[in-house]
Amino acid sequence: MPDLKVLFSREQIAVRVAEIGAQITRDFQGEPVVLVGVLKGAAIFLSDLSRQIQLDSTFDFIAVSSYGNQKQNSGEVKLQKDVDQSMEGRNVILVEDILDTGLTMMYLKKMIMAHRPKAFRIAALLDKKCRRQQPIQADYSGFEIPDEFVVGYGMDYAERYRNLPDICIVP
Ligand code: IMP
Ligand code: MG
Repeated sequence: MPDLKVLFSREQIAVRVAEIGAQITRDFQGEPVVLVGVLKGAAIFLSDLSRQIQLDSTFDFIAVSSYGNQKQNSGEVKLQKDVDQSMEGRNVILVEDILDTGLTMMYLKKMIMAHRPKAFRIAALLDKKCRRQQPIQADYSGFEIPDEFVVGYGMDYAERYRNLPDICIVP
């Protein structure tokens, strides 16, 4: 186990996730939403966030090619699993763990916009703004972070550490 340093504790994450859930509840008052999680990193964020949203909600999931065992994005996004249902006319909230270069989100946004949703929003737990290569931003963002590689709360390094309750920096 490398020497992991806590960046955000489980308590800090819980407070912020509750705030985002309340914001989404206000923004879509009375309307149904579909939460589309990006596997696998967003699974824990989606499960906590969804329980802080007081709206008629459904889940869907998509999977895209990962970084493999490297810390760098190859620059290529490949769809591994599409949504199960059409997003046409629906209030879609794409739930992602980290917005980094923006390549993944740009690709997924185009894909979902082709369904003609009623609304499209991005909820990203973390935002590495300084790394952005694509003109895309989160509508709901948990924390802005510097250019560090993080794990925990669903996020991995070579598939490990997803189950850590806190978000930690890999040295
Ligand atoms: P992007 O296409 O460069 O924005 O890549 C976003 C994806 O890269 C996220 O969904 C994460 O899965 C992954 N990623 C980026 N930074 C980190 C990190 O620090 N830790 C773990 N995964 C990361
Ligand atoms: Mg991811």
